[in-house]
Amino acid sequence: MAVDLIVKNGTIVSPAATYRGHVLIKDGKVAEIMVRDDLPQAKEVIDAKGLYVLPGLIDPHVHFRVPGLDYKEDFDTGSQGAAAGGITTIIDMPNVVPPTANVEGFQAKVAAARNHAYVDYGIYAVIIEGNSDQILPLAEAGVVGYKIFLGETVGNIPAPQDGEIIDAWKIMAQTGLRCGVHAEDNGIILYLRKKLQDLGRKDPLAHLESRPSVSEAAAISRAILFAGEAKSKLMIFHMSSAEGVELVRRGKQDGVDVAGETGPHYLIMEGEDMVRMSLGSLLKVNPPVRSREHAEALWRGLLDGTIEVIGTDHAPHTPEEKMADDPMGDIWKAVAGWPGVETNVPLMLTQVNAGRMSLGRYVKVQAEGPARAWNLWPRKGNLGRGADGDITIVDLQKEGTIDKAKLHSKSKVTPFHGFHVKGMPVYTIIRGNVVMKNGELYGNPVGLLQKPIV
Ligand code: DOR
Ligand code: ZN
Repeated sequence: MAVDLIVKNGTIVSPAATYRGHVLIKDGKVAEIMVRDDLPQAKEVIDAKGLYVLPGLIDPHVHFRVPGLDYKEDFDTGSQGAAAGGITTIIDMPNVVPPTANVEGFQAKVAAARNHAYVDYGIYAVIIEGNSDQILPLAEAGVVGYKIFLGETVGNIPAPQDGEIIDAWKIMAQTGLRCGVHAEDNGIILYLRKKLQDLGRKDPLAHLESRPSVSEAAAISRAILFAGEAKSKLMIFHMSSAEGVELVRRGKQDGVDVAGETGPHYLIMEGEDMVRMSLGSLLKVNPPVRSREHAEALWRGLLDGTIEVIGTDHAPHTPEEKMADDPMGDIWKAVAGWPGVETNVPLMLTQVNAGRMSLGRYVKVQAEGPARAWNLWPRKGNLGRGADGDITIVDLQKEGTIDKAKLHSKSKVTPFHGFHVKGMPVYTIIRGNVVMKNGELYGNPVGLLQKPIV
């Protein structure tokens, strides 16, 4: 049997095992993993000696901003960042203009992404007041899941009333798909923001104080209660607090299908870095980055399986919107978020090198976990025979410095500028196509829409 591509001599990593072997890809799929060395003919061979061969890594939380906000990002630039950063599949968020709230909105996004994606992509739809009749048609059309913004954030897309959420989730339960929530309690955060503004506060930490961990906990506990009632699947997006981890842990014990996501910033940064490192508005994000105690609780959650997904919340904005020239200025005027899809893998591999987690655990939360949560498993998230031939090859010894000017995103703003990293992606391979080698992009936008397997 001749194959298309062989990645030979690498150290193959899955959550369960690490071993030397060769990955054979034919017709875009994993044909076989061989440990013997009598390899067949191949059109292309990559020698991965000294490198780690991972299933294609997935970022299940990006904002590529089309349609409507393409001055911040589009599928070309966002997905180039993904490919450069070792990500083979992304899932795109619905807070665009108009929001992805019906089949027409879904088709508009599909049209914008087609032939413009350098990596594979799934699409979320948003549940808002009055669109429950779209839940089944959206599933039919091919969304991988849904989102509800329980708290106010970029895009200002309000959640339905609680009763309508429960009804919507009962309908969604018929689809087998999951709904993720932006978990902040509006009653708490809007009250506190006004109170702090009335006091004249506009320093960076006022943003953190306006969105305390109890606001996340309040939203998470309500969401878990409602998902239990509706017997529906739930994801808590971008978890940032110790209380949140405990609530998700307990929710699972109580039999609710609740999964957790966190992002690199919540694990490696602290809210105080807004002041200590003068990052100010550059580190403004919703929910906010909190204290070291919260970060440690998130690490424990990640290691014990309470949190099964890392997502970057890639949220590009212009330098003016981010107040990049005056990060310590009026924090209320700055927009929340920054581009993260390209810097995530180096940042997390640096944590692997520092001994915070094994490479196998990282594969679990950046490949298997997202694929399972969003019904892309077993086509994505593993290197089993018949899976898509998506591979991220990483060099754990390769060091570098994050440079905002080199980001592929339209947004050259990141709080991680100047960070030293050890451990970098060196190949991104999508269904057998090499799209990135040593940081350089190759070829055409080969990315395809990924519909869920349900
Ligand atoms: O900081 C954030 N930015 N949090 C969100 O929830 C949305 C995101 C964005 O779209 O910019
Ligand atoms: Zn987001």
